[in-house]
Amino acid sequence: MPLTPHPDVAVVVLAAGAGTRMKSATPKMLHTVAGRSMLGHAVHAACGIRPDHVVVVTGHGKDLVDAALDELKPRMDKDYGVGSIDTVVQKQQNGTGDAVACALQSAALADFTGTIVVTTSDVPLLGAEVLAALLAEHSAKPRAGVTVLTTMVDDPHGYGRIVRTADGEVTRIVEEKDADEETRTIREINSGVYAFDAALLADAVGQLDTNNAQGEFYLTDVIGIARASDRIVRAHRLADPALVAGVNDRVQLAEANRQFNRRLREMHMKNGVTMTDPDSVFIDCDVEIANDVLLEPNCQLKGSTSIATGCVIGPDTMLENMTVGEGASVVRTHGFDSVIGAHADVGPFTYIRPGTQLGDNGKLGGFVETKKAVIGRGSKVPHLTYVGDATIGEESNIGASSVFVNYDGVNKHHTTIGSHVRTGSDTMFIAPVTVGDGVYSGAGTVIKDDVPAGALTVSSAKQRIIEGWVENKRPGTPAADAAARARTGSATPGTDSDK
Ligand code: UD1
Ligand code: MG
Repeated sequence: MPLTPHPDVAVVVLAAGAGTRMKSATPKMLHTVAGRSMLGHAVHAACGIRPDHVVVVTGHGKDLVDAALDELKPRMDKDYGVGSIDTVVQKQQNGTGDAVACALQSAALADFTGTIVVTTSDVPLLGAEVLAALLAEHSAKPRAGVTVLTTMVDDPHGYGRIVRTADGEVTRIVEEKDADEETRTIREINSGVYAFDAALLADAVGQLDTNNAQGEFYLTDVIGIARASDRIVRAHRLADPALVAGVNDRVQLAEANRQFNRRLREMHMKNGVTMTDPDSVFIDCDVEIANDVLLEPNCQLKGSTSIATGCVIGPDTMLENMTVGEGASVVRTHGFDSVIGAHADVGPFTYIRPGTQLGDNGKLGGFVETKKAVIGRGSKVPHLTYVGDATIGEESNIGASSVFVNYDGVNKHHTTIGSHVRTGSDTMFIAPVTVGDGVYSGAGTVIKDDVPAGALTVSSAKQRIIEGWVENKRPGTPAADAAARARTGSATPGTDSDK
């Protein structure tokens, strides 16, 4: 549910940093938490409060970040009615203060006079509700000049510390690298998220310098500057530190994923989903699961997967961008970009590749692989079969060990099978080929030519039997010995009758 709009608010998302501690060719903010990039989480939170403007500061890995933003834009419009996201480039990453200075020069913010929320692209659990709460605190009378989002943590290492006077007033923020021993013992930390009066921010950013341990323009110094000019500085302290945990390295990335996942699982369980072993279940943030679904151990539900009510998923199942209909059973299955119909039965050991549509009450059994296959209502592919580039009608049964031979080495071709077809085991469908309604085929048939409705097709040669061949041609082998014993009626060594 989108929150109420926040007019006169602009959100600046800082996303220009190199993220060197990730040691990655991928910019830090494009690493994912619960299946969404950290940039995506930041932009969802920013757009979620429905502000007047959203400005993203890019720099390091700009092309990749721009492409990721372009992908996010339609969804921001659809979900939150935010039709435009501006970007501004910070050419050199001279610190968070410099990044904000760049944002203030953007067309969107040059004449902006409202409240500017600054957030970062490395706090993936931060949602729009927290930004809304920060803004509520900021606007409480008398209205603050700056409100910083803080929290208490057991291990404050790496974070800026919130320094307060004896009576609790926030006076400044001191970065880890600039802090003395005593300041380092402070457990209240800066989340890196703030609300600023726009005019105050522009003025204070102009006063920043690089006289600090990292030689950077620190946005955190704005707090001290505001305070020195007697502006109201407030802190909004969050009870739950995980919501603002920053991700700077891959240990923190794993922890953010763990936390996010635990919360998602709890949300789904509270919505009526049963999990036999919740700790072994991983669910991306856009996955939808109806009530009365049972998730057995070791399941991963990714991307835009949706599971309708009454399904049993798992154990050991990975589904990505899959739509699963009501009451289906999907066991030990890998599935991508496909649809499983209501009350269908899939697995174990089934590989569903993109473009599969299994109809209601359909079946894909053990060691079956499908790709671009539309399989009609009630049709079954029970065992050891590949179905690629095919259309199968309703209530048909594909015999065990069959292959839809779709590839001639250069091009892919289509196979069309009608309804109520019964094909024998080990049938090869050499595409392009069409098999009419109600057709039967014998075991081992190679179907190269179209088969008209109602026909039986067989292609295997007449069976030959050459008596005594093994004893004649393979003398001295265990097989020849067994054949000799069978012929003479003597006992097999090692069996009960031998004793
Ligand atoms: C920052 C804060 C620290 C706070 C912590 C919370 C400063 C000086 N310190 O430290 O007080 O506790 O966040 O997680 O602000 N960025 C740019 N351009 C730059 C530098 C950074 O856009 O030149 C962006 C990064 O992409 C990132 C964000 O700003 O999204 C924060 O940068 P980061 O290097 O992670 O700062 P921290 O050391 O975590
Ligand atoms: Mg950080």
